[in-house]
Formats: sequence, structure tokens, C-alpha cells
Amino acid sequence: MAAAGIPPAHPDVLVTSRPLDEYCALFGLTRARLAALPGPLLDCPGGAAGLAAEARELGCRVIAADPVYALPLPAVVDRALAARAAMATAMAARPQLSPSPRPYRSEHYLRSWDRARRLFAADSSAHPQRYVAAALPRLPFADGAFALTLSGYLLFAYPELFGPEHQLAALTELVRVTSPDGEVRVQPLHDGRGRRCGHLDPLRHALGERRIASEVRRLPGPVDGRARRVLVLRAADHRRRAVRRPMM
Ligand SMILES: C[S@@+](CC[C@H](N)C(=O)[O-])C[C@H]1O[C@@H](n2cnc3c(N)ncnc32)[C@H](O)[C@@H]1O
Repeated sequence: MAAAGIPPAHPDVLVTSRPLDEYCALFGLTRARLAALPGPLLDCPGGAAGLAAEARELGCRVIAADPVYALPLPAVVDRALAARAAMATAMAARPQLSPSPRPYRSEHYLRSWDRARRLFAADSSAHPQRYVAAALPRLPFADGAFALTLSGYLLFAYPELFGPEHQLAALTELVRVTSPDGEVRVQPLHDGRGRRCGHLDPLRHALGERRIASEVRRLPGPVDGRARRVLVLRAADHRRRAVRRPMM
């Protein structure tokens, strides 16, 4: 795990450990699509997810980026255990948070996180170069380095930490490191209480001014009682992305 000069991981942001199948459901992906990617996949933030380890088994090269990787691995695992406990408490208090379909409920769901966390710990210990300590809105990757970039449960989930300008800068950076032939997928588009981002239209307009095409894609079936919407971004003309203006 690299470190040097990145902002520390914010203590209020949960370090979750989702498995590959949950990533596929949340981002509208399939294992076959991941296996067929023409280049590496960036997961930012990667948290303590099992994605990198599991997708590698499919032949998909995943790089995970997250400021928490600046911490020693046992500290990251402790943060992941704390997130698991927070999720268990939240699901007990609000049963609607339990994911659908019904058999895929609380205990089963949390066990899938346990497995993903163990895969993460083993993989990041064996292959630390796959887990890069970095914080949006600045990533240490070359332009167009990734065929697909995923960003889950950060930019719209914590609006108190990521305001509109920060979101715009982070989304622009995610597009920069993604191939012009690829795409960036971001979800959820609501915060932890289910409140939708109220400035998505001006944000998409500002992205458009930076030659970034955006689409809100609706996925079938709710998760945690909420409609699934994914923001999909593509560089409309990557040569003009350097033009940066204030958003509003
Ligand atoms: C809720 S987890 C999401 C992890 C994973 N994407 C998932 O869906 O389970 C949020 C992660 O964002 C990371 N994070 C916080 N600030 C960040 C930043 N500025 N840039 C990138 N990641 C950040 C945290 O360390 C944490 O691991």
C-alpha cells in the first residue's frame, strides 16, 4: 500500500466490504462483461471490497484506490469491521434497508460482507500494488488508463463531505483516468437517508461544459427499498477536458 501526501481517510466515511455480486447488481454489470473488459478496471473508492480479488479470478484486472489504504492493513480491517457493525445496527433499526430479493436478507447479506472483507485482506496483503492510497479529486493515474471506472457509495452518499464543486472535480477526475472508449459508473445518487441529490441537473450541465456526456440509467429492481439509478459518464471529447470553470 502506497501512502505519501494524500489527505487522510475521513473517519465518518464507512469502509464497506461489498462482494463482486453486489457490485454487479448495484452498477448494472455482469461477470461476463467484467471478464470481457479490454483493459483494467478502477474501483474508487475500493474500501475493503472483495471486487479486486474476485474479478481477478475472472481475468479482469482491478486497481482499487482509496485513502484508507495509507493505513496499515489491520487498521483498514478494523474500519471494515466497524462498518459491518454499523450496517447490522442500521438494518435492525430499519428493516427496509435489508436488500432484495427477500432470501438475500440481513445475516446472509452480512456474511457476504465478511467473506468479501477476508478476500480483500488476503489479496491486499499478497498484492499491495493493486491497492493504491489516493483520494479524489486527485488520482495518481495516467489519462485514459482504465477501461471502466466504478465509484460507489461516496460522492453522493456523503453530501456533507462532498459538496457540488468537490463532486464535479471528482467526477471530472474519474473521467480523465478512464479511456475515451470506456465509461465511468457512479452510484448511489442519493445520500444515506435516501434523499436524492438535489443538484444533479446543474452538475450534469457543468459536466457537459467539460465535454463529458452523462446519462442516468435506471436499473431493474430496488435495492434497500430504493430505485437503483446509476450515473454513467463518458468523455465526449477527451482533448478538451482540461477546461475547468466554476460549476455554479
Ligand atoms: C462506503 S465506502 C465504499 C466502498 C466501496 N465502493 C463499496 O461500495 O463498498 C466509502 C469509501 O470511500 C473512501 N473515501 C473517503 N474519502 C475519499 C476520497 N476523497 N477519495 C476516495 N475515496 C474516499 C473511504 O475510505 C471508504 O473506504
